[in-house]
Amino acid sequence: MKILVTGGTGFIGSHTAVELQQQGFEVLIVDDLSNSTAEVADRIGMITGTKPPLHVFDLCDAGKTEDLFIREEGIAAVIHFAAHKSVGESVQQPLKYYRNNLLSTVNLLESMARHGVKHLIFSSSCTVYGQPDELPVTEHTPLKRAESPYGNTKKIMEDIISDTVKTADVAAISLRYFNPTGAHESALIGEAPSGIPDNLVPYITQTAIGARSFLRVFGDDYDTPDGTPIRDYIHVVDLAKAHVVALKRMLDGKCKDRYEVFNLGTGRGYSVMEVIKAFERVSGMNLNYQVVARRPGDIVKIWADPSYANRELGWKAEKGLDDMMGSAWNWEQAGLHLSTLSTDA
Ligand code: UFG
Repeated sequence: MKILVTGGTGFIGSHTAVELQQQGFEVLIVDDLSNSTAEVADRIGMITGTKPPLHVFDLCDAGKTEDLFIREEGIAAVIHFAAHKSVGESVQQPLKYYRNNLLSTVNLLESMARHGVKHLIFSSSCTVYGQPDELPVTEHTPLKRAESPYGNTKKIMEDIISDTVKTADVAAISLRYFNPTGAHESALIGEAPSGIPDNLVPYITQTAIGARSFLRVFGDDYDTPDGTPIRDYIHVVDLAKAHVVALKRMLDGKCKDRYEVFNLGTGRGYSVMEVIKAFERVSGMNLNYQVVARRPGDIVKIWADPSYANRELGWKAEKGLDDMMGSAWNWEQAGLHLSTLSTDA
């Protein structure tokens, strides 16, 4: 069964492509390579034995999107990861984010409807909850105004999709990720941010490898046990497996609604300092870090209540923080993303 994975050479997309192939699905990737490289498709092939076909173009081009659906008959479902994802860049260049993330989603939905592709899994984010009033966060927790244009595009993309399924012959599942990290155990694929990483774990591993001089810990005076912010970190392979389970639920006609939402987290929050300590424990290194001022817009604490996903999908995150740190460190040391790695150290 043929599954189109948009953004399939990106961090979560590539791990999902591997899990799909290992579960017997035929994977087709479209990616504009704006934040990844074509080599990732080769590496997926090294892991699974089958290199997925890679179509390189921008989904904002409606003509090219339509051409793909004309050429590739029999697409059973789409998993839509392709999007710009830097919170900070979205604040600086909001229109870049609104144009790219929204237009690509509209084009995709239009082509899906024209070609009778009835199933969509959408890559959403816990960013839609903002700083929630109550923890843990369930799927019924009220959505807050997004902290950034990036976050707002995720919320609007969910709205576009949930409005579309009301009339088009398409059903959709939005998966709201908490903080994905870690890498595949092969160390052949992983997170490869271009330029200076925004996210904590790649910043830690790049500091440890010597590409960054030190990690800035953005504030230790928050209302948390050790003063640093708390997140629900989830291993990217656990996350990838959830996509396959959600896909099978749709294809087997088991969805309870034409539009469903699931939180994908572990249910356990860790502070920035706990993450640093876990990295030091697993790597045997002392990390060079300094506490600096708070990062504007940071949420203080958030973690998921994953019980609905556990129950309904029969899925549960299995890998813990040490596994996330160990696999991310193995990936960093393998050096396979060196083409995208800049240094300041
Ligand atoms: N942090 C540091 N130093 C760094 C980087 C991060 O101290 O160099 C801290 C942050 O202040 C925060 C925590 O580490 O407290 C996690 O930060 P990340 O940037 O890794 O993750 P966020 O939770 O801020 O952002 C993530 C995704 C976004 C998404 C958001 C909410 O990166 O795409 O979750 O869903 F919008």
